[in-house]
Amino acid sequence: ARLVVLVSGSGTNLQALLDATADRSYGAQVVAVGADRSGIEGLARAERAGVPTFVERLDDYPDRASWDAAIAERIAAYRPDLVVCAGFMKILGAPTLRAFPVVNTHPALLPAFPGAHGVRDALEYGVRVTGCTVMLVDEGVDTGPIIAQEAVRVYDGDDEHTLHERIKSVERGLLVDTVGRMVRHGWTVTGRKVRLGP
Ligand code: GRF
Repeated sequence: ARLVVLVSGSGTNLQALLDATADRSYGAQVVAVGADRSGIEGLARAERAGVPTFVERLDDYPDRASWDAAIAERIAAYRPDLVVCAGFMKILGAPTLRAFPVVNTHPALLPAFPGAHGVRDALEYGVRVTGCTVMLVDEGVDTGPIIAQEAVRVYDGDDEHTLHERIKSVERGLLVDTVGRMVRHGWTVTGRKVRLGP
């Protein structure tokens, strides 16, 4: 299967996917990495792995609809079977979502703490357990059907950084495992329920 991975940051989730796809039995290859900004470690990781990259900056377009169309076209050029948002900090529009299945990883147990600050919001709320969620992307913000989740404990003395790092160490494995199962076994969606397998 062909994966296009979208990133906005350090790309450790991307790196986990690149490492997993080095084994042919994983069943997928990363055919391109896209970003909404340049100069990020995620793009450098792709370049080191010899994977083509592209950047589409929202600021370079007159409006959101033009950016939506442009990024959909860049993605389509690589004919992905699945698009993976791995720390991609933009909402994808209809042109991409209608053309490809898209999965995203979020550093909280949805539907709790959606949005850009899932770790900080969970910490401020005072939950003792949070985690990570891999879901299908729909047109809302972190509202798509949940595919997989894993819990992570909050420790006394955690700050946003320590908690996020603990979540990410679990999140990378969950993303690699979930994407691998999706590409090898397929999936079906019935209402909000996602089932992996034929
Ligand atoms: C992940 O926790 C992701 O869920 C969140 O940002 C982090 C990305 O980390 N939105 P990285 O760029 O993969 O290292």
